[in-house]
Amino acid sequence: MDEVINNLILDEWKIIEDKFIQENNLKNETLFSIGNGYIGMRGNFEEGIYNKEFTIEGTYINGFYETHKISYGERAYAFPETGQSMINIINSKTIKIFADDEELLVDKSKIIDYMRVLDFKEGTLKRSIIYETKKGKRISIEFERLASFTQKHLCIIRLSLNSIDFEGKIKLVSLIDGDVKNSISIDDPRSGSGILDKAFIIKESKIDKDILKMKIKTKNSGLELLCTSKNILKFSKDYISYDYKEEYKIGICYEFNIKESQQIFFNKYIVYITSRDCCEHDMDDISSEILNTAYNKGFEKIKYEQMEYLKDFWYKSDVEIKGDLHLQQGIRFNMFHLLQSTGRDGKTNIGAKGLTGEGYEGHYFWDTEMYVVPFFTFTKPEIARKLLEYRYNTLDKARERARQMSHKKGALFPWRTINGEECSAYFPASTAQYHINADIAYAIKKYVEATEDFDFLREMGAKILFESVRIFADISHFVENKGYCIDGVTGPDEYTAIVNNNAYTNIMAKEHLKYAFDTAILLKEKYISDFNNIKSEIGLEDNEIDNWKTISDNMYIPYDNNLKIHPQDDTFLSKKIWDFENTPKEKYPLLLNYHPLIIYRHQVCKQADWVLALFLYSEKFDIEQKKRDYDYYEKITTHDSSLSPCIFSIVACDIGYIDKAYDYFIKTARMDLDDNHGNTKDGIHAANMAGSYMDIVFGFGGFKVSEDKVFFKPALLGSWEGYSFKVNYRKRLIKVSVDKKNICFDLLEGEDLTIFCYDNELKLSKNKSYIVDLER
Ligand code: BGC
Repeated sequence: MDEVINNLILDEWKIIEDKFIQENNLKNETLFSIGNGYIGMRGNFEEGIYNKEFTIEGTYINGFYETHKISYGERAYAFPETGQSMINIINSKTIKIFADDEELLVDKSKIIDYMRVLDFKEGTLKRSIIYETKKGKRISIEFERLASFTQKHLCIIRLSLNSIDFEGKIKLVSLIDGDVKNSISIDDPRSGSGILDKAFIIKESKIDKDILKMKIKTKNSGLELLCTSKNILKFSKDYISYDYKEEYKIGICYEFNIKESQQIFFNKYIVYITSRDCCEHDMDDISSEILNTAYNKGFEKIKYEQMEYLKDFWYKSDVEIKGDLHLQQGIRFNMFHLLQSTGRDGKTNIGAKGLTGEGYEGHYFWDTEMYVVPFFTFTKPEIARKLLEYRYNTLDKARERARQMSHKKGALFPWRTINGEECSAYFPASTAQYHINADIAYAIKKYVEATEDFDFLREMGAKILFESVRIFADISHFVENKGYCIDGVTGPDEYTAIVNNNAYTNIMAKEHLKYAFDTAILLKEKYISDFNNIKSEIGLEDNEIDNWKTISDNMYIPYDNNLKIHPQDDTFLSKKIWDFENTPKEKYPLLLNYHPLIIYRHQVCKQADWVLALFLYSEKFDIEQKKRDYDYYEKITTHDSSLSPCIFSIVACDIGYIDKAYDYFIKTARMDLDDNHGNTKDGIHAANMAGSYMDIVFGFGGFKVSEDKVFFKPALLGSWEGYSFKVNYRKRLIKVSVDKKNICFDLLEGEDLTIFCYDNELKLSKNKSYIVDLER
């Protein structure tokens, strides 16, 4: 018997639902989403669902958004004027099925057999259902859907319909449906949408034989999107087809008579393209070409390409957890969803909820640089680069924002955005998070260390670093007996806002200033013409560069000599500790139950703040210090943010709190599968997903790159038989396998490499395994 948890069957490479339970459907539509970084489709039913309350029919294109005016009761200078929302776009999934005029619907018809499967090796969503008609006759249907990883504009749906003992008329209606809107939630700031009405107008809708075509234009942002679909019915007998038209929908209907045991196949090739991809006038031609190429290849070939792409992905990135199928399923599910959700064209990024739902309006956050970029840096570095390129491509908007915020020079990156403009209306927990600039710098540093991609550094990275560091040079000021201080900012912990000397921000700024200085020196020495170009382009003076070093060397990092811990900021420790004992379970997350001021007045953390710094700069603190800091913050952290448990797990590994590390890891690895935060219906928790990978690799594996040295410090846990992971590092592929007794290193690709495992220095070469005795 298969083991089932939360209505999902455990499997190493799939998630499987074998029973339709209405109440689970909104969440499961998120889990069963397919995507390719450009298109995202929720795991909705092609044939539809009767009770609309239990579905969010969602299709999204990364970076395709509508703008709306932010309305403030009381506004102040430089508040963002315009919000952006990723919009739910034309739904092309629909293929309605009627058997003798009776519509087959999963929540209305009688179901004999049911299965919905998301397959991480195939990159497909498959569904099979045996329907029984009112007259007691059975029809089996199988749907297979994919969003191509090799042609980002393309999706395909294949239906095979088999009559078991039904005889009569079948009608299929294949639609593209512009009658869609974003879903609205007024009482949860995490899911709300600023778009209340239809976000677009239909510019064109046309049926041309087997091709459906609909072009839309957003009302405010003025973006255009074209959706085309080619519909092919394969049936050996006669059928009739005719057009279907409504104000917002177009389709093709097919009617035929089917006998017992007869089968039909129906393929729907779908292409989405937008005016962010090419000039509006070219959209038609490009999409026809993609559609024709796809049609000529056919479903099987495209599916084969999909599987090959994934074969390569898993070869380079797979994580195995032996002896724990729950966690094995969880971690692969997470990695697969990251691959599905992340933009990779330099113009788009990854939303906090990926492309699976409308939570956080599709916005990109620091989640990218601190969680997702590290994941791709060591699995698919070319995607990590694209995510960083996105920041380069939005540098002008960050410069504009800096001017709005009265910084004469430099660039201030937005807290949440799609097109690069800040669009948060609540500045204490957004604009005030100046650490975003330093987070980007951190990600660039780690990416360059791991890849030696100096081309990126000199062509784009350096400019980002220099422009963004200027903001820290501007806001840092020297205070006697302290050093350089940064006032009026918010750290990652959103339960504390607008403070002086947030310790995380200060250490991140210190390191950003140092890295910007070092990069300037490197460019001067090795790439002088690039350096001079950048200098003249951004008007950079030598004394500015020297000043970065001075500030960095003298940055104040708060420390409490009584408790011997790092306070989160200047006043944190003098606040009252939150009354956890008398806070009932249903009052969490606190943000939904208390006014921000009540929360701000207390020592209570939503998420890892200083503890994140302990992970990022682990080598700067001794183990006793890390333990004291960890013990203090653990007691007052609610983990109301999904970004938190993975960081606590990683640091717990580092300081030897293995049981804690394991407990946090469980929460992390299956956060969405088990719907731990109760809001997976609004989309996956992308940062946490990347955090679960970081947890295995950086936490349990103790992997660390520092300048040009590579360290491992693997730990083993009681209940696992072993685990393994792979990292891509400077054109090498290293596999690390840990079992109860040994650690084994294999260099699968690339030139010899020296690594450090605890106190051992190992020189790895290809085709040879290196074993380190774990017990020793
Ligand atoms: C967290 C932020 C995060 C955002 C999007 C919030 O709950 O506090 O740190 O960036 O979610 O994931």
